[in-house]
Amino acid sequence: MHAEAQTIQYPASGGALLIEVAEYVCSITLNRPESMNTINEEIRHALPIALRAADSDPAVRVIVLRGAGDRAFCAGADIREFRAPQAPVQYRQNKVHQHWVAAFEAVRKPMIAAIQGYCLGGGLEIALACDLRIAARNAQFGFPETGLGILPGAGGTQRITRVLGMSLALDLVLSGRRLDAETALAVGLVSRLVDAGDLAEQSRVFAESIAARPPLAVQLAKEAVLGGRELPLAEGMRLESDLQSLLVNTEDSVEAANAFREKRKPVFKGR
Ligand code: COA
Repeated sequence: MHAEAQTIQYPASGGALLIEVAEYVCSITLNRPESMNTINEEIRHALPIALRAADSDPAVRVIVLRGAGDRAFCAGADIREFRAPQAPVQYRQNKVHQHWVAAFEAVRKPMIAAIQGYCLGGGLEIALACDLRIAARNAQFGFPETGLGILPGAGGTQRITRVLGMSLALDLVLSGRRLDAETALAVGLVSRLVDAGDLAEQSRVFAESIAARPPLAVQLAKEAVLGGRELPLAEGMRLESDLQSLLVNTEDSVEAANAFREKRKPVFKGR
């Protein structure tokens, strides 16, 4: 695959982002616990670079987004950086903003948000931009933006509607209502719930369980599900079938069958 030939350029770990790669899992931690891991310019700049690096790194099969400390995953944009109103043309041309919103869409590997405490505004948008969400029982989800005279503008209005449906999405966006973790699980905003003290361990186990599977199958299965979102059923079926025909010709699919027959653990190579 293309990745072997590339030099992987992660942004410096430390400061507002901590980056760690182990056991095929890249853990990216928003590291501003004193201000609820809010998104500042440094994070806005470095996170897309980190995602791109992890996506091209052959030593990474799954990406986990975390928040440092135990009070918040991320309480949204750093309101202290809000300044004078921008002219509309400045806003539209703000490349950093567009880069930030698009960065998640380009990632082929699965992304998991491991969420504790406050998951508000841009924090919820990051969580929604991930493919999977595992939450601690103390998690709280909401969009405060309209109360600040803006809207969830980093994909929030679009992604929340696709995850929850129009009715609940509008309730959250227009009223700023918060959902607790149990409700988030019940409505499908998160797919797993754990005790707060177990989040780090359980999210690691979750990530490693996906990372242990043939990586191309995982990536193309993600592509089939996400790529089919906007397609009529017949076209979605066609996409699925095309991706499957790629997978049945991979070494890893043969290895999986051989390992099953030989009653041994498979060794996957990502090809
Ligand atoms: N931007 C900047 N600083 C923030 C912040 C944000 N979005 N959210 C929290 N903080 C800071 C607080 O100012 C405080 O800093 P301080 O100790 O220097 O005063 C610290 O984080 C802890 O927050 P605090 O409000 O004391 O804790 P809390 O448990 O009472 O409330 C929140 C936590 C997250 C509910 C509350 O801070 C809040 O509503 N924040 C705003 C969230 C928001 O509107 N996000 C969307 C932005 S578009």
